[in-house]
Amino acid sequence: MNAVTKTSYAPNLKFSHMGFATSDLAAMEDFYTRVLGFSVTDRGEVLGMSLVFLSRDPDDHHQLVLVSGRPDDLPANPYHPQFGCVINQISFKVSSLQELRKLNDIFLKEGVKNMMPSNHGIAYSIYCHDPDGNNLEFFVDTDWYFPQPFLIPLDFSKSDEEIVKETEEFSRQQPGFEPYPEWRARFGGIMNLYRPQA
Ligand SMILES: [Fe+2]
Repeated sequence: MNAVTKTSYAPNLKFSHMGFATSDLAAMEDFYTRVLGFSVTDRGEVLGMSLVFLSRDPDDHHQLVLVSGRPDDLPANPYHPQFGCVINQISFKVSSLQELRKLNDIFLKEGVKNMMPSNHGIAYSIYCHDPDGNNLEFFVDTDWYFPQPFLIPLDFSKSDEEIVKETEEFSRQQPGFEPYPEWRARFGGIMNLYRPQA
């Protein structure tokens, strides 16, 4: 198990959103709204930059901000071109393996680039690139935990039932395996949880 370091005072906070620079604001807005279903909650100019605010949750005015100004000549990740040179991945949770399979079909139809369906044992996922080449991940958790990282190809030519059955089988054989609910209960007890205040 990883060591968990606690500060003497943990601020009451929760991760909320991120923004990234884009070289093609229109193509990026189209992809995130039309293909991924985000709503534009605001747009405008500040400090010489054009911004588009995107959300799929009214509790967050924005979950993503697209901002003009991405340089054209960013270097590739020296270890693996799938992953970003600075932002390794931007990851979205989906509701089920069936939903992930639907997304796979949509991405194939849309001609989404660098698709890499992957099985982490603890999650099924599709990595792919958005129009700017940022590495995105779409994933659904399984019911099983074992120490990460772990990555093998996810084969969508198999049925959902086959995928789930063989994933459970190899997950249970891994050292450090435990049912994911037990892992969550254990880590929930040692993490600094955000507490909403009135
Ligand atoms: Fe991930």
